[in-house]
Amino acid sequence: MIPNFIMKKLIINFSKFLFFLIVFIYVFNQANSDEIYEKGRLIFLEKGNCAACHALADAASDSNIGPNLNQIRPDINRVIMAVTNGIGIMPAYQGELTPKEIEAVGHYVSISAEN
Ligand code: HEC
Repeated sequence: MIPNFIMKKLIINFSKFLFFLIVFIYVFNQANSDEIYEKGRLIFLEKGNCAACHALADAASDSNIGPNLNQIRPDINRVIMAVTNGIGIMPAYQGELTPKEIEAVGHYVSISAEN
């Protein structure tokens, strides 16, 4: 049998460990998702050239060939669908952008269009 006072210490230490683990995972995830957001922003402006056709306040673009993204507020899946397969005169980006890049631009657009 482990004596009671040692058991208490173990539980307290374990709780502290859990607490720091959770904080660590939280901070790490924040950093990670900010990185994807930033990557998506660059794709929107440069590699994907979405800004040439779409208005999006966060990207300071005001083109109106495609719909204004602040107005249609697409969720991430809608962006991924449009970018992967193309829609209307919008070109498909499959092969042009990697699936990770398409996901990043979807992450960026779906979040920034809300503002
Ligand atoms: C050549 C101009 C052009 C470019 C470049 C372009 N789009 Fe589009 N986009 C359009 C047009 C036009 C539509 C409307 C198509 C339709 O509904 O017929 C559209 C539609 C969309 C939609 C709405 C899809 C839906 O389900 O209604 C999203 C989201 C979108 N574009 C995101 C993007 C992103 C992100 C990029 C960059 C990777 C991009 N577009 C690049 C012209 C463009």
